[in-house]
Amino acid sequence: MIPLIAGNWKMNLMTEEAAAYASELSNRYQKEQEKKCDVLLCPSFISIPTVRDNLSDDLYLGAQNCHSASAGAYTGDISCGMLKDVGCQYVILGHSERRSAYGEGNSSIKDKALAAISAGLNVIICVGETSEERNLGETLARISEQIKGSIPEKLTSWELTIAYEPVWAIGTGLTPTFDEIAEAHSTIRTCLAETVESASEVRILYGGSMNPQNAHDILSVENVNGGLIGGASLKLDDFWSIYACAKDLC
Ligand code: PGA
Repeated sequence: MIPLIAGNWKMNLMTEEAAAYASELSNRYQKEQEKKCDVLLCPSFISIPTVRDNLSDDLYLGAQNCHSASAGAYTGDISCGMLKDVGCQYVILGHSERRSAYGEGNSSIKDKALAAISAGLNVIICVGETSEERNLGETLARISEQIKGSIPEKLTSWELTIAYEPVWAIGTGLTPTFDEIAEAHSTIRTCLAETVESASEVRILYGGSMNPQNAHDILSVENVNGGLIGGASLKLDDFWSIYACAKDLC
């Protein structure tokens, strides 16, 4: 399986910085002899056109959220058709920051996923437990429930990517043990088999404080097929080092 290294810039980088980053990333990627690893950037909505204009065609572009309706009176929102129209191939859905700060639940994530797929986008659905759930030993139950509740039925492997992102690991410098990551990813794989065609081919990314120091070891864990990287994606050198780890493991 070709791994995916995805940068989630969140609400960071001004358009000029975004342009310089995308263009330098493209320069580096162009020089790669073999493209063994997919690379995706998910800038803020407002930087998407700038990143698109500076990104080479073999790199992927995505958004961090979308609305489930195709058009209408939804002040401040962006439809999947608009994302497709502006050049996105991916959209991140159900990130824990959206689940917690905007009250997004599994069923609204599922609606967004259906809308995104019918607009021709690939979806990256995020799941993960809070520290409280972890301490109660509920990690696997929580992620199974999120997978079952937020993934539409009968998807194919190319439409769907999962990101396992323990909430307590995001932006904290903390990460689960490799055994815990392996257990979570294997549980996700098993749950996927109930709803997705070719579940064994769905990429399952790890996210949460991945950085150039830990990337090699995390990306070596079974069923880890790439990373969703927040903080460390803001510096191109760090993001590139993580990409290099993924590539070396192919
Ligand atoms: P982090 O964020 O890499 O800064 O922990 C990951 C994410 O929120 O997707």
